[in-house]
This record gives sequence, C-alpha cells and structure tokens, in this order.
Amino acid sequence: MKHFISAHDSVNPHQLVQEALQVKQNPYNFPELGKNRTIGLLFFNSSLRTRLSTQKAAMNLGLQVMVMNIGSEGWALEYEDGTVMNGTSVEHVKDAAAVIGVYCDIIAIRCFPSLQDRTADYSEMVLQQFIKFSNKPIVSLESATLHPLQSLADLITIQEHKKTDKPKIVLTWAPHIKALPQVVANSFSQWVLKAGYDLTITHPEGFELSEEFTNGATVEYDQEKALQDADFVYVKNWSSYKDYGKVAVGHDDWMLTDEKMETTNGGKIMHCLPVRRNLEVSDELLDGDNALVLQQAENRIYAAQVVLKKILEANF
Ligand code: CP
Repeated sequence: MKHFISAHDSVNPHQLVQEALQVKQNPYNFPELGKNRTIGLLFFNSSLRTRLSTQKAAMNLGLQVMVMNIGSEGWALEYEDGTVMNGTSVEHVKDAAAVIGVYCDIIAIRCFPSLQDRTADYSEMVLQQFIKFSNKPIVSLESATLHPLQSLADLITIQEHKKTDKPKIVLTWAPHIKALPQVVANSFSQWVLKAGYDLTITHPEGFELSEEFTNGATVEYDQEKALQDADFVYVKNWSSYKDYGKVAVGHDDWMLTDEKMETTNGGKIMHCLPVRRNLEVSDELLDGDNALVLQQAENRIYAAQVVLKKILEANF
C-alpha cells in the first residue's frame, strides 16, 4: 500500500478487515515496525477521534508522531500553479509539502471541502498536491470527498456484529443545522459496496449523493420503507451534492427514533460521531443496547493501525 485515500487503495476490504481484527487481538506485537520513522498528522480542520486514534495507532507501531494544526497554525497555502502570490496566501503548497516530506516518512492529512465549489472540492486538490509534492505516502484523515479510515472502522464494526453474511445495511440522512460535507456518506457507501454488502440509502429528494460512490446501492426516498428489516442503520447528515452545499430545512422528522427502529431486524445504530443528540438521533437510541458508536470509535485505532502497518511494510 502506497497511499490510503479511498476504498481503491484496498484490493480486498474483507481481507483488510480481517487483518485489522488480528491487529486488535495483539496491538503491541509490532513495536519495532515504525522505529526511527516519523508520521506527521496535519489538521486543516478540527478533530477528536481521528487525531487521537491515529496517534495511538502510530505509537503502537513505534512511530514518532508530530501533530500540526496546519489550518489554524500554519501559513496560508497557495494551491494554484504560477500564481503571483500578492494576496493572502503566504507559502505555496509545493514548498510546504516538500519540506514536510523531508521531515516525515508518512504524512496524514485532514482537509475538509469548502462546500462552495463542487468541482474544486471533488478534485481533491489538497490531497493530490501533497501526493505530488511531498514524495511520501499520504493517508487521508478525511478529505473533501471521503473518510476512508472511518469507513474501514465501520466495516470492522459490522464484521464484529453481523449475524448473516449479507446483512441489510441502511444509510439514512438525518437533520442538522449546519452544512456538512457528503464525505462520510460517500465513503461509507463506497466501502460497503466494495465489500459486496446490500446497501439502501434513504434521504429527502434533492440529497442524492454522487453516483461515483453509490452506484449499486438502492435509493429509497421513504425512510420508513427503507428501514424495514435493516440489520444496521448508519445515521448521517449531509448537505446537497446537486445544489452544492445547500442545507435541508423542514425535515426534522428524519431524526432516527426508537419508534422508527421497530420495523428493523433488531437494527444496530451506527454514527461516526460527533453526533447532535436529539436532532440526528434520539438519546434513547444512542444510549441504548443497539448503539455501536463507541465500538466504531474504538475500531478507529485498529483501522489506522492496520493501514499504517501495511504502508510501513510496503515502503520501508
Ligand atoms: N469520526 C470522526 O472523524 O471524528 P473526529 O471528527 O472527531 O475526528
């Protein structure tokens, strides 16, 4: 594995999940693998789980870890080639990425979309520029379109809790007050479909995700119908892809509640966190026995650890 930015970087998601579960059994079995190597964790945006779980995974492998809130503490970066830099940007990404590549053996980056310009966001400009100019393996800690470490953790969690080979998995849109990226929903769809699972996506009309990531899923606009017989219900808000960045208003009744779960197959509730309680999902569900949110968060460690392990094994 060279880079880890999407499901395409895993030949076989099931095999990667099995390897992650082996790592989970014995997380301290590889203390020498990262010896004298350094990973840089660069955050253009806030984080709790991604930052701590990736740092823990790296430390379990013996890596040295440098963390930088590059979005708030670094120089403002320029991404356009050939620009006369007489505006607000201070340093070109080609210089910054090259320098960070000298300091680090692996670079992990969190870079959210602007939600202003769909073409620019979906081109993954920041990740691609770091790949081009750092000359080091790049790991996505959530990019403009995808969140692969979250999705791998989600697949590990599904593997641990599924009762049949092909569970019914439902991704349901949920209300939110802010414009959130499509990232988690795109990524979950991409990984679940690559794993060959049955995926139903339900959302209000106008909130269709990019078919690049959802091709093969069933789209059902009626949330009640979609939830019938579900084994896993993944809850997430996203803003519109079509009317890019638009927030839905008047859909508060899409919040997932106990009552809505009655027609599921004892469905497990998943959410990547952070979650807006009693807006996206009710307290009763998040605090109930069927919630898997803490298990997902724990599995973020082993998703990151198996990915870093494979990058170290393949590149050094
Ligand atoms: N799920 C997730 O990525 O959490 P953070 O935004 O806190 O890292």
